Amino acid sequence: MDSKKGSLVVVGSGIKTVGHLTQEALAWIKAADKVFYVVSDPVAEGVIQRLNPGKSESLTGLYEEGKRRMETYEQMIERMMASVHAGMRTCAAYYGHPGVFAYPTHMAIKRLRKQGYEAFMLPGISAEDCLFAELGVDPATTGCQSYEATAFVINGHVPNPKAALILWQVGVFGRGDYSRSNYQLKGFHYFVEHLAKFYPTDHKVCIYESAMFPGCKPREDWVAIQDLDKARLTPASTLYIPASERATPNLELLKLLESL
Ligand SMILES: C[S@@+](CC[C@H](N)C(=O)[O-])C[C@H]1O[C@@H](n2cnc3c(N)ncnc32)[C@H](O)[C@@H]1O
Repeated sequence: MDSKKGSLVVVGSGIKTVGHLTQEALAWIKAADKVFYVVSDPVAEGVIQRLNPGKSESLTGLYEEGKRRMETYEQMIERMMASVHAGMRTCAAYYGHPGVFAYPTHMAIKRLRKQGYEAFMLPGISAEDCLFAELGVDPATTGCQSYEATAFVINGHVPNPKAALILWQVGVFGRGDYSRSNYQLKGFHYFVEHLAKFYPTDHKVCIYESAMFPGCKPREDWVAIQDLDKARLTPASTLYIPASERATPNLELLKLLESL
């Protein structure tokens, strides 16, 4: 089937937009007939607005206090799709990597492709990429697991304590609604209890928030699991849990493999 006229390209603005926006993303933002963006700081907004003045529009206004985030995501998808249906070369810029913990971008692409439109995504720099750089973590060392915090508990995931664990959206644990300020996490003890099944409660974990502006330092607060409920968590917090046990390599097998 021939591609229809309108199209969608989804790009990431990175965490620290000044510096993280790739040349490729920048070119697509400039060339678009319509740019939608969901970014979390005014610097990123200013950068995008300057790249394509008059055609750039924030979708963050769709978030409302107490509204289900899923409802907002569906509205974002509708806005992106309507622009493509109207024949526009549409660009959607989401902060971080636009396909990492970003339901509306994946869904808009999927639905548009099904309708015969050209729709694709470019990679961006995610919070996890920043974490590897700023906390000095190489996922190759122990291996690395990555989950959304609420899904991690609700689905009863069993982490491997011999590998690192990254938990996203820990600051919105158990909450499907949107809040402008930090959330009241009334059920947070369920999260701590789940972790305590697999890790010693004095195991130190890091509340990580990558800096969004050049020259600023990331937040790296190391606390014991048993003290997590007293720690300040924000919607930008990611929890990094280093391995608490050492792996026990099968050296005989390694020797055998190397001899083959
Ligand atoms: C909806 S997800 C968006 C992730 C984003 N697309 C990315 O690529 O990083 C929001 C979650 O990303 C993580 N996150 C966002 N900004 C962050 C930052 N500045 N530092 C650390 N983690 C961050 C947090 O876990 C937060 O709850």
